[in-house]
Amino acid sequence: MSSEKYRIKSLSEYQKAYQESVENPEQFWSKIAEEFVWHKKWDKVLDWNFSEPKIEWFSGGKLNITENCLDRWVKTQPNKPAIIWEPNDPKEAHITLTYKELHHKVNQFAQVLLNNGAKKGDRICIYMPMVPELVIAVLACARIGAIHSVVFGGFSAHSLTDRINDAQCTLVVTADGAYRGSKEIPLKDIMDEALLTSPSVKKVIVLARTQMSIPLVDGRDVRWEDEIARVEAQGNPFVTPASMDAEDMLFILYTSGSTGKPKGVVHTCGGYMIWTNYTFVNVFQPTPESIHFCTADIGWITGHSYIVYGPLSAGATSVLFEGIPTYPYAGRFWEIVEKHKISILYTAPTAIRSLMAHGLEPLEGKNLDTLKVLGTVGEPINKEAWHWYNDNVGKGKCPVVDTWWQTETAGILISNLAGVTPSKPTYATLPLPGVQPILLDEYGQEILENNVNGNLCIKAPWPGILRTTYGDHDRCKLNYFSTFKDLYFTGDGCFRDDHGQYRITGRVDDVLNVSGHRIGTAEIENAINMHFGVVESAVVGYPHDIKGQGIYAFVIYNGTEQEMEIVLAAILHTVTKVIGAIAKPDKIQLVSGLPKTRSGKIMRRILRKVAEGELDNIGDITTLLDPNIVEEIKIGRL
Ligand code: WT7
Repeated sequence: MSSEKYRIKSLSEYQKAYQESVENPEQFWSKIAEEFVWHKKWDKVLDWNFSEPKIEWFSGGKLNITENCLDRWVKTQPNKPAIIWEPNDPKEAHITLTYKELHHKVNQFAQVLLNNGAKKGDRICIYMPMVPELVIAVLACARIGAIHSVVFGGFSAHSLTDRINDAQCTLVVTADGAYRGSKEIPLKDIMDEALLTSPSVKKVIVLARTQMSIPLVDGRDVRWEDEIARVEAQGNPFVTPASMDAEDMLFILYTSGSTGKPKGVVHTCGGYMIWTNYTFVNVFQPTPESIHFCTADIGWITGHSYIVYGPLSAGATSVLFEGIPTYPYAGRFWEIVEKHKISILYTAPTAIRSLMAHGLEPLEGKNLDTLKVLGTVGEPINKEAWHWYNDNVGKGKCPVVDTWWQTETAGILISNLAGVTPSKPTYATLPLPGVQPILLDEYGQEILENNVNGNLCIKAPWPGILRTTYGDHDRCKLNYFSTFKDLYFTGDGCFRDDHGQYRITGRVDDVLNVSGHRIGTAEIENAINMHFGVVESAVVGYPHDIKGQGIYAFVIYNGTEQEMEIVLAAILHTVTKVIGAIAKPDKIQLVSGLPKTRSGKIMRRILRKVAEGELDNIGDITTLLDPNIVEEIKIGRL
């Protein structure tokens, strides 16, 4: 593996690499970039300022990421499995695609996209189940230089149409339906509803997965299978990879912020490739034989970076799982580990906690000896879950990497390196080379000492940092580069211990992290407020045993007493319809007013305390317009 040249193998190598990356980033990253396939070398390694922001890595360099993920491995290891797909139902056969086979299928589908009018720079929305064709569709877009926007299959028609319209997608790739545990999700129906209000879409390519019957719109909808047959009849062309500038867009991925509208985070070809590859290789320390199993969905950044681009650009074998950890039984993960001889297992604390709740029985008799490295991502991991994972899954012999990062960062920023740098339970520990964390107090002053909490910012760009938010650069600036001058603000709070190790404590903005998924409170409020009879609402998070954070909604409702039950059910329905089931409140408390300051601002701090059950510790309420409302809210707490 060419990545051997930059794989860090010891603590002292880490320290050396880190130092060089900070002192001489251009030299450091250009040596790494040379190990990839380029059509033309870059003119300049790095050009940046955080005030616009303007961030360019390897500009003038030309490449295609799929040559780095596929073609180069077809030459050296054509028969190595690239993807192993494990279906939702364990009775269905799994599928293995070697690098050669995956390359072939990506070329076929790239030709299908071309045949359907797609071209370089077009935005293509992908709304699919976790099947091999999803990986194929993603890579086929990258092959022809089209920009993919993958939307998680759990989002509603409303969310889907917003995302399609924001990016002005001209083509969508979807499936008839998706299996998720015991559920069957009618993806095509949802897409059809979305397309009623998405006029930019001219073509729909539909894969058959569940075989449920679906209508096809004449002239707009075509079947994946028919299109592939057409390409086969043409003699399976090789699709020349589009020559992309390193700074051309690779994809858009929508994520929630503190305002009501999700933003389209933009990543570009060169920097994204190098960052996902570099972090995959160094954090997980794969060997040529490693079988890597990241349990995320490709609808989220974790799937983009550590199922698709990171592992494939490193020539590794990546396992893709269609189902959920507890279907049809709670031993499903362990069965997959045994069946596919998994070496690296990368999952979320919420999954660990939900499996913990099933006790040790599902683990009994499962051979987990092939595991070498365990990883977690998505939210702070609590001590109990960390130890359970370490003791019962890793049997105390697998390093656990707690990887902190975000949709905006493309890949891991703070994490221990498996078996190379020390771990510390509940700590993400140390920054990767190229990452310069800094903690600031509420006045924007840098905190220099250790053993402190602060707002986590990053001082300088790493190759994977977001470049913009699609169609609205000002929003990118406002969201990430304005809170603290000339710094990238993560939105996370963070503790730094005596040894300079970092522990992420959670969001400090109005963003919730529910089961490792990010949801803006404003988005949920907007959905609740659409409901007839609702005057206003305020949503906050509270600690939840499995999900990390639960969703607590305070709703001012002015309808009649008799209608209350109906209203509660209707609100749940509306939120599911507008956003998706992941945003459904766990608790809805109907109130007659909200705690507001005289200027009309909702004091969420008070609502958070109520939701957390800290009723005796509400704090100062004298600045409220109507302090009496607090008593009513406390009494009505659910
Ligand atoms: C937010 C980003 C990173 C991919 C999955 C989520 C939280 C993420 C950790 C961790 C504590 C974490 C942060 C971050 N987060 N990883 N290891 N420890 N918190 O991506 O949806 O963009 O969410 O997830 O709060 O800001 P995302």
